[in-house]
Amino acid sequence: MTRPVLGIETTCDETSAAVLDARGAMLGLVIHSQDVHEVYGGVVPELAARDHLRRIEPVVEAALGEVGVRRGDLGAIAVAAAPGLIGALLVGVTWSRAAAFALGIPLVPVHHMEGHLFGPVLEDPDAVPPFVALLVSGGHTLLLWVPEWGRYHLLGETRDDAAGEAFDKVARIVGLPYPGGPAIEKAAAAGDPARYRFPRPLLKKKGGAGSTRGRTGFFDFSFSGLKTAVARTVAEVERAARLDAERPHLAASFQEAVVDVLAGKTLAAAEAVGCNRVLVGGGVAANRALKARVRDGLGPGGRLFAASPRLSMDNGAMIARAGLYRLRSGGFGALAEAAARAPIPGVLPWQPADKIPAAFEL
Ligand code: KG4
Ligand code: ZN
Repeated sequence: MTRPVLGIETTCDETSAAVLDARGAMLGLVIHSQDVHEVYGGVVPELAARDHLRRIEPVVEAALGEVGVRRGDLGAIAVAAAPGLIGALLVGVTWSRAAAFALGIPLVPVHHMEGHLFGPVLEDPDAVPPFVALLVSGGHTLLLWVPEWGRYHLLGETRDDAAGEAFDKVARIVGLPYPGGPAIEKAAAAGDPARYRFPRPLLKKKGGAGSTRGRTGFFDFSFSGLKTAVARTVAEVERAARLDAERPHLAASFQEAVVDVLAGKTLAAAEAVGCNRVLVGGGVAANRALKARVRDGLGPGGRLFAASPRLSMDNGAMIARAGLYRLRSGGFGALAEAAARAPIPGVLPWQPADKIPAAFEL
């Protein structure tokens, strides 16, 4: 295929369309971030679906118009088909299926989290496997060993809240707006990260302890206990009527705990698989403290790949880029329908238990 590909993203609260040339270079990108959810402090699925329906046509038109590509010029349409909010997904998938059918071109369903893996390579041609990938978004927390595209060894995932969800919930608890990640990061800049000592869940457990689904539990994550610890502290601070004064310190101390866990496990994973190349993807990858910590931990010989904030958040370009890969390699058959939950195509278990490091102490 030599014609451009259109990428569509509607899994959550961004309506996005992008046009890439057949070699994967980004030509145009439009992202509409829904603001209808702000007053509710979180995404309302029904409102998300309705807004996607309203926006998808103008967003696609704007992306095509930006680069002067007509629908008839397209060679394929890639669409994020899973995972996500089912009503939101259905808008993107149904629109894309109808458009691909009308144009007589292939429709390529893409797994949203595989899309995040392809975010950094849009800006940096070196951002290709092998790497350890930390995918951290509002709905997912995944640690993968990626020896090559399409082979995703699952090292760990969250047992409860996703990392971004923890940012969003804690923001709400300390009285910061949605989305919580950027608000916490901003507030934390003026705070003392050592003022409160919040727990670092599962960070000190040895490999093997708490083994889940045939894997070691060491690389799994858990954020709900940390959220509860912040809530307890906030209740005390509020009793003393000091929330306004303490908010930056609460934000900084929470962020420090999350960064310790995310960076700690990612660096331990890099050591375990013997690879000093790390990719951080998903909305939380916009967090500068997280990236700085991973970069420092890798040292001068290591490489950290992270997309710019615009391409770390949900966008159609990463979907189009992953779609180009899937168009060439296949293996997306299981994703033909919109699905709220689905494993990444090519996900593999992580076996070599002997490579798990001893306790990772802070
Ligand atoms: O990947 P994404 O845009 O959407 C999902 O697939 O969920 O990720 C959104 C998440 C939200 O939870 C948001 O709070 C978080 O990413 N986020 C951040 C930052 N920017 C966005 N978390 C921490 N620090 C940030 N700077
Ligand atoms: Zn995402």
